[in-house]
Amino acid sequence: MLKPKLSRKNFLKLVGSFGALTLISRAKRAYGLIQSDPLFSFVVAPDIHVQHPDSAVAPNISYPFVEEKFNAIISDINNGAQFPTPDFFMAPGDMVHGGLLELLAPDHQKYAEMLATLTIPHYPGVGNHENKQYQGIAAYEAAYKSTFGSDKLNYTFTHGGVMFIVLDNSGYILDSHAAAIARDTWLQTLLQNNPSIPKIIACHIPLIPLREESVLAASFGFTSYKMRTTKMLNIIEGYSDSVIAIFTGHLHLTGVKLRNSIYHIGVSGTASYPCHYGHVKVFSDHIDIKMYKPPQTYVDQSRNIHGIPRYTFDYTDADHTTGEAYVAGNPDEQEFTIALPVSKQISGETILENRNKAIPIKFSVISDQQGFLISAEPKGKYNLTVYSTDGRLIKNLAEGSLNNKIEHTFRPQSAGAYFVKLQTESGIFYRKAFFSK
Ligand SMILES: [Fe+2]
Ligand SMILES: [Fe+2]
Repeated sequence: MLKPKLSRKNFLKLVGSFGALTLISRAKRAYGLIQSDPLFSFVVAPDIHVQHPDSAVAPNISYPFVEEKFNAIISDINNGAQFPTPDFFMAPGDMVHGGLLELLAPDHQKYAEMLATLTIPHYPGVGNHENKQYQGIAAYEAAYKSTFGSDKLNYTFTHGGVMFIVLDNSGYILDSHAAAIARDTWLQTLLQNNPSIPKIIACHIPLIPLREESVLAASFGFTSYKMRTTKMLNIIEGYSDSVIAIFTGHLHLTGVKLRNSIYHIGVSGTASYPCHYGHVKVFSDHIDIKMYKPPQTYVDQSRNIHGIPRYTFDYTDADHTTGEAYVAGNPDEQEFTIALPVSKQISGETILENRNKAIPIKFSVISDQQGFLISAEPKGKYNLTVYSTDGRLIKNLAEGSLNNKIEHTFRPQSAGAYFVKLQTESGIFYRKAFFSK
């Protein structure tokens, strides 16, 4: 049991251990390491399974209240009641139900119509329900491409100093398939060319089993409970010192596994049960993840695909000893913190707290043996501070109000990594700097 007077050394050991995730928030509070404002935040919601009303007829009836639940996510995002409006929304696959080739277009159309009310950027990903698992086959990809763009199969974007990579692993295909070769070649080059920027990946099908493998194979009932081959995983693991996490869906269950320093985070999505979607808060030295649900009236336990009534019993495994824990995850899979090692810490480059006022700004930190030379050209009121990478304020350097260039020097007392923070009227900017004596 965690003692309130945990030593700092033991705390650092603790945050490196996945098994202690539930204890981390308490430990961080005890040490005052929680930064109040994240650098940025986003929502992850796979497996929404929207259907056009004309599609929702036998034999294509799928899940109940899919529109209501999708609207609830959009509303949570837009109205800021559950959490401040995040920076963007990722939907890694099974946004639509599809079911039949001719239903892909109307279901995509319905999803796009509903999405029109979303006030933040949306990043889609391909799931097996967007293309009926026919990855790389033009007729089956047409609805997705015409809705989201033909460049939205495998793509990347950066936000707040993090490289996000969305991958298409929707088909149960071999490495020799043309679509797999194209994706893996692109991914390998991307990672090779950008080895040090912290990365978060999203794709539909998990790369590793998120439950005890033989149990999961049975409870899911399809061979696609994990990706068919490990080539994509091997490529990613070649960059495990910069890849933080991989968000997936498909299983309609929530779970987290740590493998080779990369977190594999499965989010159930809202189609069946437990209806989770994830809210992710990104800080310079840690990431907080918490699952949310639509209103309880739309959460129907009888739609659990890993238990009664699909089966005559609820599945469990060694780490999930009740049917509820098996499908919804243990508490430390529904809310947890990832502590970032130095190689994955996030500089916040181009980060703006108030995204609506986002404007580029000149702000640089040069480091030498004397310390840091900081120069910037803030507009209006500004505040310049230095933080340690675990979020402790080291020095208030300057504050004021002007439109000219400012220059300050700062010499840290000890060697290591620091964040220089510039708060301005148009946003908050961070620069990471290293000092060695
Ligand atoms: Fe799904
Ligand atoms: Fe799926």
